[in-house]
Amino acid sequence: MTIFATYPSLASKVVLITGGASGIGEAHVEHFCAAGARVGFIDRNIQAAESLVARIVAAGGNAPHFLHADLRDIEATQGAIAGFAAAHGDVDVLINNAAHDERHDIETVSVAYWDERIALNLRHLFFCAQAVTPGMIRKGGGSIVNVGSFSWRVGLGGMPIYVAAKAGIEGLTRGLARDLGAHDISVNTLVPGWVMTQRQIDLWVTPEVEEELAQRQCLKSRVTPADIARMALWLAAADSRMCTAQSFVVDGGWS
Ligand SMILES: NC(=O)c1ccc[n+]([C@@H]2O[C@H](COP(=O)([O-])OP(=O)(O)OC[C@H]3O[C@@H](n4cnc5c(N)ncnc54)[C@H](O)[C@@H]3O)[C@@H](O)[C@H]2O)c1
Repeated sequence: MTIFATYPSLASKVVLITGGASGIGEAHVEHFCAAGARVGFIDRNIQAAESLVARIVAAGGNAPHFLHADLRDIEATQGAIAGFAAAHGDVDVLINNAAHDERHDIETVSVAYWDERIALNLRHLFFCAQAVTPGMIRKGGGSIVNVGSFSWRVGLGGMPIYVAAKAGIEGLTRGLARDLGAHDISVNTLVPGWVMTQRQIDLWVTPEVEEELAQRQCLKSRVTPADIARMALWLAAADSRMCTAQSFVVDGGWS
């Protein structure tokens, strides 16, 4: 059995995760709770969020704090973050995880759809960072982890707005890192490859794409949500204290 690292510096840290109810975000919530952090997560899916909280509590863990908001609504998101900080203290770690990889054809994209996809895949990362940084400055530092994607690096088709937003996240990371470094706040991008969440398996995994994955990845195992969460733990922990403005790729060597 593989024994993975634990991070004592994360105990009691106040950690905020976006899109934490399902998929990779769910793994982030589970891993930070297991590390002893005080975890809050924003999601719009109430049912998935409540069942995640119940599962963690049933397993004997500390209950994470579910914050119901749609991240496209910046005012509601700011309100949720303020409420979480009022209850648990200023945020030490922000995991900007939420996104949605809905497919779209170039010819059917309207201006409204473009704006909505950017709001869902890029805009809230900036405003969540903006909302937590005053508290991080008060605390003398913090860590922001922006979740990107290998999709723009390998030039995936069928979702150009998502791919553009994911490329933008790496630029946003570097811009924020420069401005916030003076306050000892690190900002990094965590770049997942193709991660086998239940949603990906249900929607896209066929024997043919499994074959493609085996061809493209250097390492032949499937990348799991836990593989991504373990990188987030390290980026949030004191162990990575001098890493900032960088991209950390977990894709089995695909890109
Ligand atoms: N799964 C992959 O293969 C893969 C690959 C590369 C990058 N990523 C990135 O990893 C991150 C997580 O991906 P995932 O596959 O777990 O996604 P997912 O779609 O399975 O889960 C996203 C979560 O965010 C929530 N969410 C979505 N839009 C929201 C909104 N407007 N307001 C509030 N909550 C919202 C959903 O309810 C869900 O709980 C994303 O940034 C994604 O781009 C995933």
